[in-house]
Amino acid sequence: MADLEGLKVAKNYYLDTPFQNSNGFYVKGANALDWGMKKHLSRIFDAKSGNTVMLAFDHGYFMGSTSGLERLDIEIPKLIPNVDVLMATRGGLRDCIDPALIGNKGIALRATSGSSMLDEDLSHEILAVDAQEAVKMNADCIAIQTFIGGDGQLSSLENLSKAVNMAQQYSIPVLGVVAVGKQMERTPKFFKLATRILAELGANIVKTYNCENFEEVVAACPVPIVVAGGKKIPERDALQLAYDVISKGANGVDMGRNIFQSLHPFEMSAAVRKIVHEGATAEEAYAFYEDAIHPVQ
Ligand code: 5RP
Repeated sequence: MADLEGLKVAKNYYLDTPFQNSNGFYVKGANALDWGMKKHLSRIFDAKSGNTVMLAFDHGYFMGSTSGLERLDIEIPKLIPNVDVLMATRGGLRDCIDPALIGNKGIALRATSGSSMLDEDLSHEILAVDAQEAVKMNADCIAIQTFIGGDGQLSSLENLSKAVNMAQQYSIPVLGVVAVGKQMERTPKFFKLATRILAELGANIVKTYNCENFEEVVAACPVPIVVAGGKKIPERDALQLAYDVISKGANGVDMGRNIFQSLHPFEMSAAVRKIVHEGATAEEAYAFYEDAIHPVQ
């Protein structure tokens, strides 16, 4: 391990130079992966835009029933047409969602668990889903929560490493999730550190949050980054968030509360899609949203 004495601050991210190891497959960092991995990634990331709209409804794995997700069986099927990937737990999918509704949509399967809203410290999870279950659930990736800088850092990175070792055997990509615990700051320094560690440990996709200089976080991470929506904010602001991260190089959003807690989840998910896949600005997407919820008589 290199010593940390006199570390020089990283600063040259070649922001104007596209990722170089991409002659052959359009997903960042996936050039050397096998056919099966590429097939799963092509189910997640659209070949034309290179991006993805993930609908996250795995909140119940530690929140129980949360506003907008009281009835997955009612709320989620309506939104499937507007998203590319369903991010969920195996129970949420298996119990509530008719597989016939999935069609060509991707499945991002939440594979770690072990904490609840009652815990002070959420940073200790276990690897709860094995490869056979991931195969049986037709998962296109498995999602592993990590807690860089938190008390559960070592165990969460052990979960990630075990997941990569396991999933690679079955050509299933791993989505490394950067958690932001109480003691972690949403700074470029933290997100550059966390996203790069996850990619270096073998995650094929990394999920994180927006921050200042986000384009540097993207440039320094050799796999695609998708951005979580976070807590519910006004639709216009959530669309601005989506636009900001896509324009700075994210390959998608993994939005939950800003879709299913919207007063108009269907229209909101369609507006997010405009930004992620059609290059719409936040203004254009919001105008689309407004027109959709106030149809001209
Ligand atoms: C829930 C999660 C969600 O997948 C992630 O946070 C995205 O959902 P939201 O946009 O509501 O934050 O990890 O535990």
